[in-house]
Amino acid sequence: MKRVKNIWESFLTNSIKSRKKENNWRTRNSIQMKSSTKIIFKNQEYISFSGNDYLGLSFNEDVKNAWKAGINQYGNGSSSSGHIVGYSEVHRTLEEKLSQWLGYQEALLFSSGYMANQSIVFSLMKKRDSIFADKMSHASFTEASMLSQANFKRFAHNCISSLHLLLKKHSGKKNLVFTEGVFSMDGDFASLKLIHEESKNHNAYLMVDDAHGIGLFGEEGKGSCNVFQIHPEILMIGFGKSFGICGAAILCSSKMKNYLLNYSRSLIYSTMMPPSQAVALLESLRQIKRSNNLRKKLKINVEFFKKMTKDSQISFLSNFSESGIQPIIVGDNQKCLELSKFLFQNNIWVQAIRPPTVPFGTSRLRIVITANHTFDEIKKLVYSLRDFFDQNEYKK
Ligand SMILES: Cc1ncc(COP(=O)(O)O)c(C=O)c1O
Repeated sequence: MKRVKNIWESFLTNSIKSRKKENNWRTRNSIQMKSSTKIIFKNQEYISFSGNDYLGLSFNEDVKNAWKAGINQYGNGSSSSGHIVGYSEVHRTLEEKLSQWLGYQEALLFSSGYMANQSIVFSLMKKRDSIFADKMSHASFTEASMLSQANFKRFAHNCISSLHLLLKKHSGKKNLVFTEGVFSMDGDFASLKLIHEESKNHNAYLMVDDAHGIGLFGEEGKGSCNVFQIHPEILMIGFGKSFGICGAAILCSSKMKNYLLNYSRSLIYSTMMPPSQAVALLESLRQIKRSNNLRKKLKINVEFFKKMTKDSQISFLSNFSESGIQPIIVGDNQKCLELSKFLFQNNIWVQAIRPPTVPFGTSRLRIVITANHTFDEIKKLVYSLRDFFDQNEYKK
């Protein structure tokens, strides 16, 4: 028995040691969100440039009131999986509204984007099938792909010729191509038109994860696919970002929905999201459709940030994008932590993002500009970044 205990102890100790040695140790801080851009931590106020609440809906009064009204009407939880008694009228209404909005036959709700992505892979992709995903795809999808029995290959980021070679080699098989619409760590758009064409040419299904595009781009915030005028066979949208809540939906055909209802273990064996959350999500959806002003404000804020950082060391290290995600690629883990700490001392909260979340050697500050930031807050961020780079000369 003692030996077994030692095996466990040394496993934990060595794993912790190795993370610490790489300056890759992760901790959490228990904070309080005061508004969509303000954090209170140990009685100090910080401007947050780390959250994904792009439109500020997490603090929207109408959404809050909808959730409260939902609790009064339906209670706190759903009590079981949707296949038992967890699926209510309001879940159905939300699915119908989402599918009408995005032009799909059906929508299926999930408790998280992580579960939705895993569910697609595990229920649909079998032994002789192939999954081809962009190299920068989210861990929820790539992890499931690696664990699945399907053949899994990544194509170079946004590179159509790399995807072409994979599809050509595996032509005539059941292939799934996967990409994000807006990439979570770089904020750039996928070349959706070309990826869709390439997939169609080889009879592969395309799945787009638009967690960071939905609500923010295209007509009525319909997302990246609307911008590029494509209709992938499978679309995943997340509710943890622009919707200001959490959860996700898969948009697909009726046949696909029926298949998933029968084969997706995360639907069958997991408790349905609370009906009150579906009520709140319906209100978020209503807000998103009519939020052209917030989308415009987000764009103005992003342009302001870029203008402020132009011709400085900051722009040299940045991968500027069209979205609210504006990474500053520092490279080295330790240097990235130093920059994050420097900003923290100036009451600015930007988390350092390190491997394996991003590729080795590309540790970064993932700055998120939202519609609710003020120009003064963005100026404060840029002046602090400038101060840091004036004191520390970094090369990309
Ligand atoms: C691109 C992308 N897909 C999926 C997820 C997972 O979504 P959720 O947070 O709803 O589990 C995230 C992140 O949170 C993401 O950034």
